Amino acid sequence: AVAQHVETEIHDYDFPFEGPFGSFDRLQLQRGLQIYTEVCAQCHGLQYVAIRNISDDGGPGLPEDQMRAYAAGIEVEGEDGTFGPASPQDHFPRSALENAPDLSLMAKARAGFSGPYGTGINQILFGMGGPEYIASLMTGYAEAPECAPEDFDGYYNTAFANGGYPSECVDDHGHREAPGSWIAMPPPLMGDDVVYADGTPTEVEQEAKDVSAFLMWAAEPKLMQRKQAGLTGVVFLTVLAVLLYLTNKRLWARHK
Ligand code: HEM
Repeated sequence: AVAQHVETEIHDYDFPFEGPFGSFDRLQLQRGLQIYTEVCAQCHGLQYVAIRNISDDGGPGLPEDQMRAYAAGIEVEGEDGTFGPASPQDHFPRSALENAPDLSLMAKARAGFSGPYGTGINQILFGMGGPEYIASLMTGYAEAPECAPEDFDGYYNTAFANGGYPSECVDDHGHREAPGSWIAMPPPLMGDDVVYADGTPTEVEQEAKDVSAFLMWAAEPKLMQRKQAGLTGVVFLTVLAVLLYLTNKRLWARHK
């Protein structure tokens, strides 16, 4: 078999948490949590995230009482095997559908661009594109290219790299006729899938960006603190460098 070259279409969506001064947008994370809860959680899990963390500052920041109400609305299995309402210290449930991957770390597990290779400079400047990838996946469903047999399994998605691909759409040189591949996930977002409390419009792209931002927070909840610490470090070292330079000048002044 000839090695196939896989192309995908990943859009460089803008997120408020990008760049050295970026930060999570609390309301966006709340909207993303809503999409996750009302749409994605039917199939996917978020088993490494504790429910109480949706109250965290720098995260969705849900008021304590809303977080408790949210927990009470989720069914989890207790140690004795019985099901009951979750408490805040419980984690989100596992995937309900066996072949739907857990989404806790998905935003860091996938690279949209500037992947985990090369010198790393692009990663620092542009990021890895995890949330861009997820948003592109949500908006990447398209009509299957004509070369594909009618009954080819799954849904055609221009952002998905690792799915099935009909041999009818590959030429002798391993060149694929269309980007992406076929995915088992049915298109989860159609637009107007939820009603946002803050009145934000609910077209697919907005919903996709919101849930991707939420999943970025889920995968990297301390992003804000990390950036803050880094920035403090850079400022501190800059000041120190200037002082050391001046000290050095002064110490050696007599000998020059
Ligand atoms: C895979 C996100 C809703 C079923 C995935 C992947 C992501 C994702 C990021 C991994 C793709 C990859 O491996 O690169 C979401 C989001 C949803 C959502 C954000 C809500 C907006 C759903 C729903 C279902 C579902 C409702 C079930 C009806 C699946 C399945 C896969 C998958 C079966 C595996 C696909 C494959 O490997 O071919 N999803 N999903 N997802 N999802 Fe979803």
